[in-house]
Amino acid sequence: MPDTLTIIDNRTGKEYEVPVINGTYPDYGSAAPAPPLRNIKTSEEDFGLLTYDPGFKNTASCKSAITFIDGEKGILRYRGIPIEEIAEHSNFLEAAYLTLFGELPTKEQYEAWEYEVTHHTFTHENLKTLMDAFHHDAHPMGMFVSTVAALSTFYPEARNIQDPEVRQKQIVRLIAKVPTIAAFAYRHSKGLPYVYPDNELSFAANFLSMMFRISPNYEPDPILEKVLDTLFILHIDHEQNCSTTTMRTVGSSHADPYVALAAAAAALYGPLHGGANERVLRMLNEIGTKDRVGEYVKRAKEGEFRLMGFGHRVYKSYDPRAKILRELAPQVFEVTGKDPLLELAVELEKIALEDEYFVERRLYPNVDFYSGIIYKALGFPVDMFPVLFAIPRTVGWLAQWQEMLMDSEQAIARPRQIYTGYDQRSYVPVEDRETTPKGAELGVGV
Ligand code: CMC
Repeated sequence: MPDTLTIIDNRTGKEYEVPVINGTYPDYGSAAPAPPLRNIKTSEEDFGLLTYDPGFKNTASCKSAITFIDGEKGILRYRGIPIEEIAEHSNFLEAAYLTLFGELPTKEQYEAWEYEVTHHTFTHENLKTLMDAFHHDAHPMGMFVSTVAALSTFYPEARNIQDPEVRQKQIVRLIAKVPTIAAFAYRHSKGLPYVYPDNELSFAANFLSMMFRISPNYEPDPILEKVLDTLFILHIDHEQNCSTTTMRTVGSSHADPYVALAAAAAALYGPLHGGANERVLRMLNEIGTKDRVGEYVKRAKEGEFRLMGFGHRVYKSYDPRAKILRELAPQVFEVTGKDPLLELAVELEKIALEDEYFVERRLYPNVDFYSGIIYKALGFPVDMFPVLFAIPRTVGWLAQWQEMLMDSEQAIARPRQIYTGYDQRSYVPVEDRETTPKGAELGVGV
């Protein structure tokens, strides 16, 4: 059977045969150099057909070999390796190497990579001055986004995105410096002195030290260090989500990786994306006690608000990352002491998973449902949650950015639109204008 579709245009009676490749109908790309839909016209003057897909719910924007997700089965793999195996046997820097370069490193490759990242964690002193300028109660994610963008002015050679060596240098710099910027943002908000990176510590332990060190003999708890490292692994990449798409979109204009990554982090900040774990905690605090869970779920079902940490565009079963975190949580609480919010979360999950509304819509806990509770137990304030997401996701953003640049089929991101505005009309001089209903609706000119 041929891998094609036959389209019959009932307006003209014409028949078109279009290819099906990898389960997609490529409107563009190497397999279909001409845009097939655009060829389907009623006349020569006709523009041809477009696809309309707000939110890209069913549109592949690229080919990618980095992350595989099967949302139906709850599968997540980086470069083919299941997330469960990576979380159990690997560490963040090794998983970052795998994600970026496609293979697990040899011992020598790993040591060189670890050395490179560890020795790029310091930032220019002027960056500290820049961060000092933020208001004392600035949200750390706002500080993070702005400071990452400012890195672009410190490394002007980064604009040379076609040079693989230059690209590699910025990749190392960004992965190494984002924890430093994140920790400085936190220390600034607390009015505490910045703690410089410690090259003797692991990636996760160094971050904990930059965040929480007060006395010189601070030592991160090894269990908490391991848990944070696992959290970092789980957040490395998640294919074409909102922030990754932003990274690719901004990167497609050949902007440097610092500004592209700042834009991606800004996308992550939103409550429907990386800001959700912050909202989960606020939601659990608002619910307060177990006996109020039922009432809260009822209000969510009535459309008053969404249950934060539930539902996912891709996963229509339990998010595998949430499953790992659910199992990890008790280990954390053994060190830090019990948090009644965990019990509340388990109760909320139980009630929602049994409820017809959530079952019908296949709404399961996503990664943000448990990550917030664990972050809180580790001592991170709620405002830092999206920043904690951005640190490991930096790896995914950069892997996707590099893949996009190397892909000859990619072009500057520039979607089409369906224009729904006025047809051509004439300019009206101000003295002849009346307040239109539209102006009144907007509260303008009334
Ligand atoms: N609580 C209650 N109802 C929900 C929820 C929720 N959390 N999520 C989706 N629904 C309902 C929604 O109202 C709709 O119902 P109906 O068909 O009756 O109109 C149906 O489920 C489908 O929702 P949708 O908005 O079409 O689904 P989507 O794929 O566009 O949205 C989502 C995915 C993650 C934005 C959404 O589930 C949501 O807002 N969840 C809460 C926020 C959240 O936890 N975000 C973290 C996402 S995972 C981490 C990340 O990617 O950053």
